[in-house]
Amino acid sequence: MANVPAIEIRDLHKQFGSLKVLKGISLTACQGDIVAIIGGSGSGKSTLLRCINLLERPTSGEIAIQGEPYRMKDARHGGLEIADRRQVQRIRAHLGMVFQNFNLWPHRTVLENVIEVPIHVLGMKRDEAIHRAEELLNRVGLGSKKDIYPAVMSGGQQQRAAIARVLAVDPLAMLFDEPTSALDPELVGEVLSVIRDLAAEHRTMLLVTHEMAFARDVATHVVFLREGIIEEQGPPDQIFGDPRSPHLKQFISSVA
Ligand SMILES: Nc1ncnc2c1ncn2[C@@H]1O[C@H](COP(=O)(O)OP(=O)(O)O)[C@@H](O)[C@H]1O
Ligand SMILES: [Mg+2]
Repeated sequence: MANVPAIEIRDLHKQFGSLKVLKGISLTACQGDIVAIIGGSGSGKSTLLRCINLLERPTSGEIAIQGEPYRMKDARHGGLEIADRRQVQRIRAHLGMVFQNFNLWPHRTVLENVIEVPIHVLGMKRDEAIHRAEELLNRVGLGSKKDIYPAVMSGGQQQRAAIARVLAVDPLAMLFDEPTSALDPELVGEVLSVIRDLAAEHRTMLLVTHEMAFARDVATHVVFLREGIIEEQGPPDQIFGDPRSPHLKQFISSVA
């Protein structure tokens, strides 16, 4: 098991109508890898993450999670469609996605947000789910907030709750899509610090971020996406310290 990649993407293409957004992405994340995905706005970063849990259906290509390829079939009007909905539900339940805008359920307390999927999708006993949720909320510094609603929390607190919700499914991999970019600057640090702890535990993650210093610090591998292709990739010190592609050089200096 240990040698099976957590996420393996082969020649992934995605187009919306005639707009080609991903043009042949191949990427492997082994267990414990922290893959930072950087690139300009519109380069396809969110689409790539959304294809990994099939929130977007690829036009072509293959994605395997923990060695298990999604079963897809050709759609009538081109592209692929899901061939086995239950497989997707099962795999997706273990791919924790953290979005820019937190996406907590607004009409549920923080605790209820965290126990929902463990109870209703994974079939965990309620007592056990609550016990585990309380541990996770303590871990992200929200032990005292469990009974309040997301709307009365700061963005940083909401995002930490969203991370606890993902941890509650014991994810095979965590997918972060610009987790700090909707936050006021003074709240960014508390969320990065939670992510840094998870990285230190060698939790597999794909992290789309504009926080370049953070990416350089925690990533094991960095991927530069440009116009739907991986233009350059490598270890963080090489990508940030010795970029080859002129576009990557320009990108790094523009966000520094
Ligand atoms: N559902 C969609 N329908 C049509 N175009 C889309 C859709 N989602 C994304 N796009 C387009 O795909 C391109 C890449 O978007 P996205 O993956 O969100 O880029 P990034 O996250 O790197 O900023 C953009 O041109 C965007 O407008
Ligand atoms: Mg995006």
